Amino acid sequence: MKPRKRIFVVGGDLTPFIGKMHPDFIWKKHPDFGKKENPGLEDYLTRSIRGALDKTGVDAADIDRGFVGNFAGQLFSHQGHLGAMAVRADEGFEGKPFMRVEGACASGGLAVLSGVDALQAGSDVILAAGAEVQTTVSAREGAGYLARAAHWEEERDIDEFTFPAMFARRAKHYKEAFDVSDEDIAHVTVKAFENGNKNPNAHMREVSWDLESASKPGKKNPAFLGNEELKPHLKVSDCSQVSDGGAAVILATEAGLKRLGIAAEDCIELLAYGQATGALGRVDDYTELSTTRQAAEQTYADSDLAPTDVDVVEVHDCFAVTECLMVEALGFADAGEGANLAKQGATGLDGSIPVNTGGGLLAFGHPVGATGVKQVLEIFRQMKGQCGDYQLENIPQVGMTANMGGDDRTAVCMAFQNLG
Ligand code: CAA
Repeated sequence: MKPRKRIFVVGGDLTPFIGKMHPDFIWKKHPDFGKKENPGLEDYLTRSIRGALDKTGVDAADIDRGFVGNFAGQLFSHQGHLGAMAVRADEGFEGKPFMRVEGACASGGLAVLSGVDALQAGSDVILAAGAEVQTTVSAREGAGYLARAAHWEEERDIDEFTFPAMFARRAKHYKEAFDVSDEDIAHVTVKAFENGNKNPNAHMREVSWDLESASKPGKKNPAFLGNEELKPHLKVSDCSQVSDGGAAVILATEAGLKRLGIAAEDCIELLAYGQATGALGRVDDYTELSTTRQAAEQTYADSDLAPTDVDVVEVHDCFAVTECLMVEALGFADAGEGANLAKQGATGLDGSIPVNTGGGLLAFGHPVGATGVKQVLEIFRQMKGQCGDYQLENIPQVGMTANMGGDDRTAVCMAFQNLG
């Protein structure tokens, strides 16, 4: 879709993403264990929203509508009704239309697109936030919660770690179809953690993987699935993180910018977007992300862009193999060549198509509902030179995002142009 009127991202903010292995995350080996608690869902939502207002200088009273992306607040935090929860962040929101949006791990992308719809329907300034807390239970129990993003009756039993197993199945098919090795795919992990180590907001900012350890199972890198057929195809280093965090962005029309007194040159513009949904539990071909490809093709067609025009991209690397499949679905590599792109360094900070510059879901972290919002914010921050140690040398002019829910069942892609 091409927006019916010009739509601008004004800016936003995010909290650090944290969880196990992050120095501030309180767990049994932390010196403050038993003395301090980790922040909760409301903390992340409020901090990211307040941060977005502060960083953009936008008054809460100027927000016409609000959208909150979250997948499983009821399960992890006993908390639903997050539209009304977000209104607690500022008195100026009282009475305004806010709502929650859910589409599994694409909830954040859908929150942004719901805001885009609202702008096309007559609103002039919107807030899109996303937040998730997942560390209230063990990774194993949390995997059962996340399995609600699959078809529960038909797919839950693939493994107690349902999503890791579903993507191990993709890795198996991908490796066999294209003669790709675990070491080839491990280049994605190594690159993600190198980027994450430069990012103060990254969950894994102090953890790194070298190619050798990320290429095979070991004591530090267990193949942890119970499904014997799929177990050899997934290790801890292939997985995104169980993270807590929040992100929020503010979008406006031209009339909205005028009202806010913000110049278009300080913004980035949404050129086009695509949203596609595949039937739950029905994947025809494990070696490609066909729903994401549909969303990407709509985005390219409606923006008149080609993959070669894109300077920076944020893709949904929920597992290392997913990044390979994502860069293929977005047209940056041919089928089976996605791993090679990372191996050749093309997706690194100084490569021809930098992918997930802040570490992606693998190293930046994956607080599910926040991820799609964070992707948009990361493109904004790269385009405005705000990325510190992982800032690209050439300020990007065109950027894309690809956020995915479930096993490629909900896909949201957006293309942005830098202004100014
Ligand atoms: N040797 C053997 N086995 C070991 C081990 C070792 N040294 N260390 C751990 N394990 C095994 C154990 O079986 C352990 O389970 P239990 O403790 O319950 O017995 C299991 O591995 C997990 O270990 P931990 O709980 O210690 O691991 P962790 O907390 O470090 O988590 C992880 C690691 C399981 C990989 C976790 O990070 C994870 O689940 N990541 C994926 C998160 C995920 O799936 N997110 C959703 C992505 S899908 C998406 O984005 C789309 C959507 O819509 C859902």
